[in-house]
Amino acid sequence: MIISQETIQAVQRVARIEEVVADFLPLKKKGQNFWACCPFHHEKTPSFSVSSEKGFYKCFGCDAAGDAITFVQQIEGTSFVEAITYLAQRYGIPITSSQEGTQDLQGYRTQESLYILLNLAKNYYIDLLWHHREAAKVALPYLQERAISPEIAKKFELGYSLDQWDGFYKFAIKKGVSLDLLVAAGLVIQNGTKVYDRFRGRLMFPIHNSNGQPVAFGARHMAISPLSNAVDGPKYLNSSETVVYQKGRLLYGLAFAKQAIKQTNHCYLVEGYTDVLAFHKAGVQEVVASAGTALTETQIDALSRFTTKVTLVFDGDQAGIQAAFRGIDKLLAKGLEVNVIWLPSGEDPDSYLCKVGVDAFNHYIRCFAQDFITFKAGFLLNQSVEQGPVEQAKVIREIVQSIVAIPDEIQATLFLKKCSKRFAIEEELLFTTYHALRHQTTAVWQQKRIGASHYGRQKSSPYVDPKNIPFTSKLTASIEAYEREIMRILLTYGATKLSEGQPLYAYILLELDDVTFRSADCKVLFDYCKAVFNKGDLVDMQCCLDSTEESIKKIAIDVTALPHDISEAWIKKYGIYTIEEGQNVQRMSLEVILRLKIRLVQELIEENRAALKEELSEAEEARLLQVHQLLKHSECSIAKQLGTVVAQ
Ligand code: GTP
Ligand code: MN
Repeated sequence: MIISQETIQAVQRVARIEEVVADFLPLKKKGQNFWACCPFHHEKTPSFSVSSEKGFYKCFGCDAAGDAITFVQQIEGTSFVEAITYLAQRYGIPITSSQEGTQDLQGYRTQESLYILLNLAKNYYIDLLWHHREAAKVALPYLQERAISPEIAKKFELGYSLDQWDGFYKFAIKKGVSLDLLVAAGLVIQNGTKVYDRFRGRLMFPIHNSNGQPVAFGARHMAISPLSNAVDGPKYLNSSETVVYQKGRLLYGLAFAKQAIKQTNHCYLVEGYTDVLAFHKAGVQEVVASAGTALTETQIDALSRFTTKVTLVFDGDQAGIQAAFRGIDKLLAKGLEVNVIWLPSGEDPDSYLCKVGVDAFNHYIRCFAQDFITFKAGFLLNQSVEQGPVEQAKVIREIVQSIVAIPDEIQATLFLKKCSKRFAIEEELLFTTYHALRHQTTAVWQQKRIGASHYGRQKSSPYVDPKNIPFTSKLTASIEAYEREIMRILLTYGATKLSEGQPLYAYILLELDDVTFRSADCKVLFDYCKAVFNKGDLVDMQCCLDSTEESIKKIAIDVTALPHDISEAWIKKYGIYTIEEGQNVQRMSLEVILRLKIRLVQELIEENRAALKEELSEAEEARLLQVHQLLKHSECSIAKQLGTVVAQ
């Protein structure tokens, strides 16, 4: 369809620049004009002006300028026709088409035809999902299995493609769509004389552009068993790239999130389609997914137009997190505030929500986000505990590198101070490294700008003497860390009376009845406490100090003397939680106990999974699978309990 001149003129007449802009940015009236911080470049004081009288905007910082239509094009990264369509819809102007086609409208014509076809396909797949027998047999039960309600499925316009070679092809040809267009849209594959549907027997996730127009599909096969690989093709099959769909330019879910992102000035960034759905299920709408690609410059730009704050949500067993750090620096460099949520081991947002429910999920994402710098520092320091000073100096440089990326110097300074305090790194060392790296970065930047030859030889990088790095973090593997934390709570708060009148120590020791401690120190101490308890005596710090065994005294002091700040550091490191000391000791104890138990079960699951990979007799395999089921079941029930505890 070619949009008529009348429609274009009507849009130009009716659209008020200040209204259109105000949909995207908060505007402040000053004198004749409205002002805002420019959405097209990073700035702290407003130099973006909007004149309602003249009908255009102009930025005095970056020279961006134009009318309402150019504004929509620029901010949404869309074509002229899309901008007109958006504005016509906003003002309720009927869109009429024009018959005459001129040369330069040819491009629009293909683009518009693709949109129409993709919309047709979307509706075709939706119709099948809700009305076809085959879908009722496979797709609807699958949705149910994954706890995707009809409301959510409808909101995201999910559909189903039949398990046939030419279902859609035949349908579209009947509607008069040309084969060329079907191929161009990536919906049909032409291979010599063979022509067939790209998507067969899959759950269809339309991928929308930021206006909510479908431009591609992600199609999931519906085999659920993790042990079966015998499925046709990859888990998700995507449309090929087309004129209207370039993977790296889109963020899945943006159309459904825009409003909420603007309202909250915040956005969660997840990995997958189902993770976006999960956030919506939990009532959180400001969420988008990069859907299978690393975050691109264009995607970051698109985000930073809507918000200044993003929270990255990482799966509990995120691979290659370290490799992602550089990419995350790009977000910082755009002036975005970056936070991180690390989910419990083995979980993605979708699976975690299914496991713990809406309340606990919401609690988790709200309470366990930490800023990226602290997260990265904790992560890297944790990795390098066993290594020497040279490695540690490298780690410090790595951390500071991210701080250097932050354009706002005051913020950078605050982060340097925070890192120094939290990880016991000398402030001066951090600042020296910061200034050295900053200088380097600026030098590289200048070199690029002025041209390498002009700038001369590169200076050698400033040397950080590894001996200067004090290293005090005592970081242990998580099971051992939980054990220490439990002992610390037991000895510090053991005598506290719970609401039922029972002392806390009795509660903890009974809860841990079936657990054998792993770390030698904690085991000795724990067994001693159990023995005291079994004699009917009170268990607290004093009873350990009264022990005739020197080692018991020593371990008890060691465990309780651990400053809370450090214990908090490891808790943060595993991305888990922070406890309000002494607030509700029973809840706090139960939480740590459950976390210990779940880790122990997860280890067993891992061991069992490794065993399953060996050559096995059929009977042995069946037995191990049964063990797997049992362990998973137990993991699930602990997780549920944990969810309730955390959400309290
Ligand atoms: P579910 O298993 O349905 O919950 O999907 P997921 O989102 O948890 O999948 P996963 O974490 O494995 O992958 C994250 C995202 O990467 C997905 O949502 C897809 O966008 C993409 N992805 C995963 N597997 C494939 C694949 O086989 N092909 C393509 N093209 N993309 C994939
Ligand atoms: Mn998933």
